[in-house]
Amino acid sequence: MTNLLKKTASNGVVTLTINNPPVNALSFVVRQALLDAVNDAEADSNVRAIVIGSTGRLFSGGADIREFDAPIIEPGLPGLIDRIEACTKPVVIALFGTTLGGGFELAMGCHYRIASPGAFVGLPEVHLGLIPGAGGTQRLPRLIGAEAAIEAITTGRHIPGEEAVVLGALDEIADGDIIAAAQAAAVRMSQDGERLPRTCDRTVDVASVTEGLFDSAKAKLSKRRRGFEAPPAAVNAIAWSVTESCPEGLTKERTLSAKLKASIQSKAQRHLFFAERMALKIPDIPRNTPLRDVRSAGVIGAGTMGVGIALSLLSAGIPVTLVETEQDALERGFGRLRKILDRDVERGRLSAEKRDERIEGLSGGLKLEALSGADFVIEAAFESLELKKDIFSKLDKITRDTAILASNTSTLDLDDIAQSTSRPERVIGTHFFSPANIMRLLEVVRGELTAKDVVATTMSLGKRIGKVPALSGVGYGFIGNRMLEDYVRESQMLLLEGATPAQVDGVLEKWGMAMGPCAVMDLAGQDISFLTRDQNRHLLPDDPRYCVPGDLMNALGRFGQKTRRGFYQYPDGRTRKNDPEVVTLIKKAAMDLGVRQRNDISGEEIFSRCIHALVNRGAQLLDDGIALRASDIDVIWSAGYGFPAYRGGPMFFGSTIGLSAVVDAFKDHEKNLSNDFGYWTPAPLLVKLASENKTFADFDADRRGGV
Ligand SMILES: NC(=O)c1ccc[n+]([C@@H]2O[C@H](COP(=O)([O-])OP(=O)(O)OC[C@H]3O[C@@H](n4cnc5c(N)ncnc54)[C@H](O)[C@@H]3O)[C@@H](O)[C@H]2O)c1
Repeated sequence: MTNLLKKTASNGVVTLTINNPPVNALSFVVRQALLDAVNDAEADSNVRAIVIGSTGRLFSGGADIREFDAPIIEPGLPGLIDRIEACTKPVVIALFGTTLGGGFELAMGCHYRIASPGAFVGLPEVHLGLIPGAGGTQRLPRLIGAEAAIEAITTGRHIPGEEAVVLGALDEIADGDIIAAAQAAAVRMSQDGERLPRTCDRTVDVASVTEGLFDSAKAKLSKRRRGFEAPPAAVNAIAWSVTESCPEGLTKERTLSAKLKASIQSKAQRHLFFAERMALKIPDIPRNTPLRDVRSAGVIGAGTMGVGIALSLLSAGIPVTLVETEQDALERGFGRLRKILDRDVERGRLSAEKRDERIEGLSGGLKLEALSGADFVIEAAFESLELKKDIFSKLDKITRDTAILASNTSTLDLDDIAQSTSRPERVIGTHFFSPANIMRLLEVVRGELTAKDVVATTMSLGKRIGKVPALSGVGYGFIGNRMLEDYVRESQMLLLEGATPAQVDGVLEKWGMAMGPCAVMDLAGQDISFLTRDQNRHLLPDDPRYCVPGDLMNALGRFGQKTRRGFYQYPDGRTRKNDPEVVTLIKKAAMDLGVRQRNDISGEEIFSRCIHALVNRGAQLLDDGIALRASDIDVIWSAGYGFPAYRGGPMFFGSTIGLSAVVDAFKDHEKNLSNDFGYWTPAPLLVKLASENKTFADFDADRRGGV
């Protein structure tokens, strides 16, 4: 007996209610209880049908991901679902809220599927480097056709229940008491004497299998999900639903699913799944810390970032007051904001009604006084310490005592800004990434004096507006940009030594980075990168070679995409084309500096110098206490810097290859390259962990134990 599955019986119908908070995961105890209950019901002549329901916020989040690292304890989900499908008495399922992964697969094995209005179903396994492995790739195409199944499974999207009925994945939407509706359907089915509709008995609708469907789906995925193994594997599995019998397809699906479960890619993506959740927990801040109310927000500066930040807040239903210095600038900001919303409506991403709601939530002003009623103010004006201090000292007087004051600075000292107010405990950094309405990452910067409830409220606000928040301490570049500095330094050094931008970017993109560092600088603007470097020279190594190619691009007005020339040419403003002139220019700069150019720079060297440097800087930030956990760093780099999720972030990657391999690479570079500036002296923490044969996960676990 378990209390994770409640069992009631009336009128010959046994109702099984899953009760495994918080997400009704189908963990071992639940599976065993379901199996026993179905077996009992089948054997009991007083029972004519079974209803499966659930309690809480959602029907089920699916399998228990924590069980994935251990061997399956039988009954596994696939066997349980097969058993339910084979049951000779009708099994009806009543869904509500969201039903994902194994939960939806369970539903597909039942004989009738009812959902309440507003329910969602989905198979998001690809996001964990997996395929639906409990029949999803075989049953879904049998219900909705191969083409729709490919779309649903390779995107992993949440499908609204109403749409799922139209597609054929669910049978009906029932208002009111869905358990009662399911019981009525179960009685009806037990009486009508018809053969039970088993999904596995069906064949895939041939009209849904167009010529070349599977190959073209894989070709598209090789671009859209470059490097990810699971999505094309899912397409292969869906193809079996057409070519194989259902039992054969299920067997093959199980083998493929087990292989993916054991893959590094899936382990990496599972690591990130937990890392994102862990990032919200701050060791010295109790979970029940009362949060401050955030009912309205203010944003200062309607530039690139301010508009994106305002959009993010509005999308969560938080009214925003945008403040600029000039009417023109304010109107331009409003115009850009509306244009983005209109485009979303045109592309079907947003309803016209939602757009209007968001626009209604927006107001503007030319004076900071317009923010007197705001609960949370985010400053996104120019990157100038004087200006920000001036704004914060005024905000201190204008805003409510309880208001939280945040800065979007990417390089300035937050503690310094906080000191310009009488309430440094209510000052915090919210480092958004561009475009702020799209990029998922939010680095929350905790100042020396920032109060715990202010940190907790900001993390929670980040989540509320759809971001992935991760905490950083105060330090140049915080976590993400500080690590970027080393990565870009090496990419630039390689250019000076004779590699071409296309070579450097090519190696790193092939390895999985969304965009190589030279292309990123062209996109962000060489002038912007230069300005940041130039304002912070005192914090950077006094190395005459430091980022010289980037400085050169800036000096020549080759700002990147916006001037159609940078490290590359952009004839149409977007598509890169190699530029031989750049190679010549950098060669000359190298000669002037006395840097010997080589033509033997290998892909391995490019990869090692850029990626191992990242891992090392991450270790240093952990040692310095700027980063709390290695897993937070992984979240930051995968959510904000295009680091491939299937490699789990730089720290997970370093641990995967072994930290002593990273230290060895540093030793090689120390021997072969100049180490005058300490670039190849490994971080003490990295050396220590490597010598103890530990990983960053061990470090995180030890640190957790220590607080
Ligand atoms: N652009 C990025 O990729 C990026 C990323 C992260 C953080 N940041 C940071 O965000 C901030 C804003 O950057 P941006 O790229 O949006 O700059 P931007 O130049 O596009 O916009 C700044 C806006 O602030 C306005 N402004 C200046 N002083 C003001 C004042 N006193 N009151 C009200 N408005 C004022 C300006 O008129 C301008 O419209 C900077 O601190 C920057 O370092 C930028």
